[in-house]
Amino acid sequence: MQIVICKTKEEACRKAADVISAAIRGNPRIVLGLATGSTPVGMYRELIADCKAGKVDFSTVRSFNLDEYQGLPPEHDQSYRYFMNANLFDHVNIDKANTRVPPGQAADTAAACAQYEADIKAAGGIDIQVLGIGSDGHIAFNEPGSSLVSRTRLVALTQQTIRDNARFFASEADVPRYAVSMGVGTIMEARKIIMLCFGANKAAAVKAAVEGGISQFCPASALQMHPDAMVFLDEEAAADLALKDFYRSQSCAL
Ligand code: GLP
Repeated sequence: MQIVICKTKEEACRKAADVISAAIRGNPRIVLGLATGSTPVGMYRELIADCKAGKVDFSTVRSFNLDEYQGLPPEHDQSYRYFMNANLFDHVNIDKANTRVPPGQAADTAAACAQYEADIKAAGGIDIQVLGIGSDGHIAFNEPGSSLVSRTRLVALTQQTIRDNARFFASEADVPRYAVSMGVGTIMEARKIIMLCFGANKAAAVKAAVEGGISQFCPASALQMHPDAMVFLDEEAAADLALKDFYRSQSCAL
């Protein structure tokens, strides 16, 4: 894991966007794994600015999103398809036909999940996977207790996640109880991983993911076994890390 501690989340978003923009320039047919939540929004804003400035071309980029709420139609303003359109796809020259979100409304969810996995493989696998982290250490919707070799499947959300995400819905009762999520095993197959974590309410999860033992109790800790995982933090999210000075000395080249 390469830990990059930034003064602000804005600086972290810019640095992460630089990594992605450069990767797109190097491989115009890149396959991106994309995340939702409030965390990556600033990075998407930077990518939109890069695209508008002619620094990056999304026309042949392909993408697979991490997760989708079960039962929310794409036009629901809290569906992750809606989120991706509003926060990235509508503002860059990506072909929406090349953007995929897990099947939240399939008649046969298990078959649709297997197809999603097969489609990722057929696209050549994910080159760069973007991740946020839940305050309970989840990645995508792999909640604590998720197998570290899990694949795309229907999952139940924890009470903590339902509470955390209630701010986006009219009330907590409106938050879906299930989602379709790539598994930890699916995520770990990405060639490169960029995880973004900002704010004091992520500090405990970051500490567990980066410096705790590898355990399905903290699904993000699986990234310790990934050969190319970068973790971009602001000072607040990095607050509990014991080896902050060491990480700083390692990332000064960035
Ligand atoms: C959601 C998403 C995750 C995301 C997490 C954190 O539950 N499924 O992919 O990383 O919440 O969200 P936020 O970035 O809003 O803190």
